[in-house]
Amino acid sequence: MSIQAFPYKRALVTGGGGFVGSHLVEELLNLDVEVICLDNFSAGKKKNLSTFDTHPLLTVVKSDVTDFDHMSRFFKDVDVVFTRRYPKIPSV
Ligand SMILES: NC(=O)c1ccc[n+]([C@@H]2O[C@H](COP(=O)([O-])OP(=O)(O)OC[C@H]3O[C@@H](n4cnc5c(N)ncnc54)[C@H](O)[C@@H]3O)[C@@H](O)[C@H]2O)c1
Repeated sequence: MSIQAFPYKRALVTGGGGFVGSHLVEELLNLDVEVICLDNFSAGKKKNLSTFDTHPLLTVVKSDVTDFDHMSRFFKDVDVVFTRRYPKIPSV
């Protein structure tokens, strides 16, 4: 995908420390998208992000998707949110 085809500048990725999420984060950074990676690291590992965790466009936040008070601030000013189904959390 060329950067012209991806219209968003700031993205939030929940579960960004996981297998799928970390690859998505990497692809977004390659498109020069500013990424907030939110993960509770219950299953994901920070080492999944280790090759780009000092990238200037990446912010990694330890947070749980059920903690709305903490998480909601990271939704401000993002253009797009990538999330996934959380089978253990029926409402998410
Ligand atoms: N090919 C491979 O090398 C490989 C390696 C690992 C996994 N896989 C496959 O990938 C699939 C799973 O990948 P995935 O990325 O969907 O799962 P994952 O478990 O890797 O990622 C889910 C992420 O969501 C996070 N998370 C879970 N609950 C959360 C919550 N309440 N709040 C915030 N974050 C939360 C976890 O910590 C984790 O980082 C499976 O099919 C698995 O078999 C393949």
